Amino acid sequence: MLMQRFARPLRTLLRTTTTSRISTARPLTTPISTPILRKMSSTTTTAAAPAGADAFLSYVKARRTIYTLNKDLPVPTDRVQEIVKEALLHVPSSFNSQSNRVLVLLGAEHDKFWDLTTSILKSIVPEASFASTAARMAGFKAGAGTVLFFEDQDVVKGMQEKFALYADRFDPWAGHSSAMLQFAVWTALEAEGLGANLQHYNPLVDEKVQQEWSVPATWKLSAQLVFGGRAGEAGDKTFEPLETKYKVFGA
Ligand SMILES: Cc1cc2nc3c(=O)[nH]c(=O)nc-3n(C[C@H](O)[C@H](O)[C@H](O)COP(=O)(O)O)c2cc1C
Repeated sequence: MLMQRFARPLRTLLRTTTTSRISTARPLTTPISTPILRKMSSTTTTAAAPAGADAFLSYVKARRTIYTLNKDLPVPTDRVQEIVKEALLHVPSSFNSQSNRVLVLLGAEHDKFWDLTTSILKSIVPEASFASTAARMAGFKAGAGTVLFFEDQDVVKGMQEKFALYADRFDPWAGHSSAMLQFAVWTALEAEGLGANLQHYNPLVDEKVQQEWSVPATWKLSAQLVFGGRAGEAGDKTFEPLETKYKVFGA
């Protein structure tokens, strides 16, 4: 029961109007793998599960950058795809323009992406410092998959023509929507017990990606989310005091 209560907020976040698979078909395995539950179970199983916004925020807080990944996913890759598709459908965009595009690379295709990236970097990184670059690339390749996020320039251009008043806004707004999608996918994967980190090897890799995976030329690559089984922990993180970055009036 406790687990089901934990599961509900994420499923609510990702609920689809087109299918009830997530809300009905996810059994107890999903909540068990959440970092929050794993942490709770090591301390107490009697604490009240967070509800409402606290439940959502517990996932927001639990999302971290995990660099040490492996290929052992705690959920099937179908589930990863389901999460990505649900987020892609439901994350907002300016004027509902739906500028986000996604390419998910799994298994050997993920390996191929990081091999391609490594060979591109090898041609530009000085030999003396390439060892550390190669080690970093090997770390990404050790993961199970990569989600590539794109912004469709055809959509951006169409919006600029349709709403000339906001012409200069549609490009940054497409970026905002992409960032929301990246965050939603990253957080949801973390909630399923995976680890992930966000990378930016665009525009270096854009041309190869277009060729290798038949990506339309109008899809502009903006970020790569590497994911996998968690083989390490997140690093320490410091927080600037809220007082320096938050204001409220009228409370
Ligand atoms: C917009 C954005 C760009 C980022 N780019 C990279 C990147 O290119 N490479 C990388 O290793 N991490 C990247 N990160 C991860 C941040 O370094 C990380 O989120 C931050 O240090 C906070 O740590 P946390 O993710 O564990 O909370 C990026 C994060 C954001 C939000």
